[in-house]
Amino acid sequence: MYLDFFGFKERPFSITPDVQYLYMSKQHEQALDTILYGIKNRLGFSMLSGEVGTGKTLLTRALMGRLDDNVETSLLVNPLLSVPELLRAINKDFGINIRYNSPQKQIDALNEFLIGIAKDGKNAVVVIDEAQNLSMEALETIRMLTNLETDTTKLLQILLVGQPELLKKLRSHELRQLEQRITARYHLRALSQLEMIRYINHRVFVAGGGGKVFIDPKSYKLIYKETKGFPRLINVVCDKALMAAFVQESHVINRNEVRAAIMDWRGREDQSSPWDYFKRLIFSS
Ligand SMILES: Nc1ncnc2c1ncn2[C@@H]1O[C@H](COP(=O)(O)OP(=O)(O)O)[C@@H](O)[C@H]1O
Ligand SMILES: [Mg+2]
Repeated sequence: MYLDFFGFKERPFSITPDVQYLYMSKQHEQALDTILYGIKNRLGFSMLSGEVGTGKTLLTRALMGRLDDNVETSLLVNPLLSVPELLRAINKDFGINIRYNSPQKQIDALNEFLIGIAKDGKNAVVVIDEAQNLSMEALETIRMLTNLETDTTKLLQILLVGQPELLKKLRSHELRQLEQRITARYHLRALSQLEMIRYINHRVFVAGGGGKVFIDPKSYKLIYKETKGFPRLINVVCDKALMAAFVQESHVINRNEVRAAIMDWRGREDQSSPWDYFKRLIFSS
């Protein structure tokens, strides 16, 4: 691996979200502020949306780290769950363990918990990542959860994090009541070219490779053209470009390395064409 060669303590362009590497672009900052505002002011529903790989999960992790101690949190990362499973998962992460499976019993237990913590002035938030995967029924149940309130305040805040399909789902007739209740919302977009340059340098710096990697400014244009500023893709291309430079024992990333990275990446993409998928489906069964 190229770590020693470039003086990195770890791979700077890993695709697992790690808050250490968070680059605060203006929009990431605005997104975080908007959602924190929604939670602090107990607005009920907030939503963070964006295409795949724009940084939603990473930002959600950063958000969890910024909440005050008086906010209890429950985080769901895989919401492909039935309604009873969903309620149980929410409760479990709050530390509420009850034996009963019935949704009503779970909701009662949650309500009791929320009233209890509200007496100490505490707030509670459920964060659901990949919320586009929630069924209509699950979304409807979640809407009901924000009805848990005292005379003056909402006991439970809910943050839905998801891909654009989530927006589409919420616009449907059945869910428009929920949609209307989302008061704090932010849609993350890809980075601009300038932000991308800062992003790349930030990640290289955090990984400890400040002195041994030189990126030819001309190669940025090519990276941007290929990735359109989506962080996940930028990571894939940059990781491969570093590898290409390392193989040639070069500390400089120029257009050739980027081209090689793109070819390598596209090559792999092509291998998983729909036809390949189809073949795997047929022959693996
Ligand atoms: N603002 C950012 N700063 C640093 N890394 C980021 C940023 N936005 C996205 N990334 C990185 O891009 C990749 C994809 O981000 P992720 O949060 O998984 O996207 P999403 O959840 O929107 O699909 C991860 O490796 C993540 O660390
Ligand atoms: Mg994600």
